[in-house]
Amino acid sequence: AYRADEDYDYLFKVVLIGDSGVGKSNLLSRFTRNEFSQESKSTIGVEFATRSIQVDDKIVKAQIWDTAGQESSVKIIPKFVLALCKNDHNRSTLSEKIWYSFKIKVSSNNKCLLQRSGWSFTCYDVTRNVTFENVERWLKELRGHTDSNIVIILVGNKADLRHLRAVPMEKAKAFAERENTFFMETSALEALNVENAFTEVLTQIY
Ligand code: GTP
Ligand code: MG
Repeated sequence: AYRADEDYDYLFKVVLIGDSGVGKSNLLSRFTRNEFSQESKSTIGVEFATRSIQVDDKIVKAQIWDTAGQESSVKIIPKFVLALCKNDHNRSTLSEKIWYSFKIKVSSNNKCLLQRSGWSFTCYDVTRNVTFENVERWLKELRGHTDSNIVIILVGNKADLRHLRAVPMEKAKAFAERENTFFMETSALEALNVENAFTEVLTQIY
């Protein structure tokens, strides 16, 4: 949670979305705790975890929001996040419309200022085509709740399951280009590109 006395220069929020089971929670635990779980339970509602990294001489704290991919939660996510934002930033000037992710600069008087919209990791499972097909739906949902320039990174997770691959990398790349999103394949299991994906985001601060 946000605390004024914490030592960081930037607080940066990222939200993970995508179908159930694509590995969002494991991407989060890999990045924030270097942990992976074979038998993780489906997320209910919204959870978040944080990690701070140093970029040049600045401390950038990432607050990463993990959402539930199950169909039934699609509609409650915005409400959950909104509620959390309110509690979390009741001294800030954030627009309630921006429920997804955003970047906040903590100024010298400890006031939070909204700088610009942040990032979303929209995830699918490279071994399950349907999770890729549904990315379109997730993007629509995401963009439907945003009126500004959210930056989206399309994340194809479980790249370690090479023999089970169903979504060709080229296909996803082409889609990402059409949709004007960044693109990366990851493996939470093998810790492949997880660090890269997040630090790519965090170093975009400048
Ligand atoms: P919801 O919370 O229901 O939306 O699912 P989720 O997207 O958070 O998926 P979760 O992280 O719980 O992972 C689902 C299953 O996939 C678990 O059994 C994980 O162990 C497995 N898994 C996650 N990431 C990877 C990966 O990179 N490679 C492999 N092989 N399995 C993975
Ligand atoms: Mg989860």
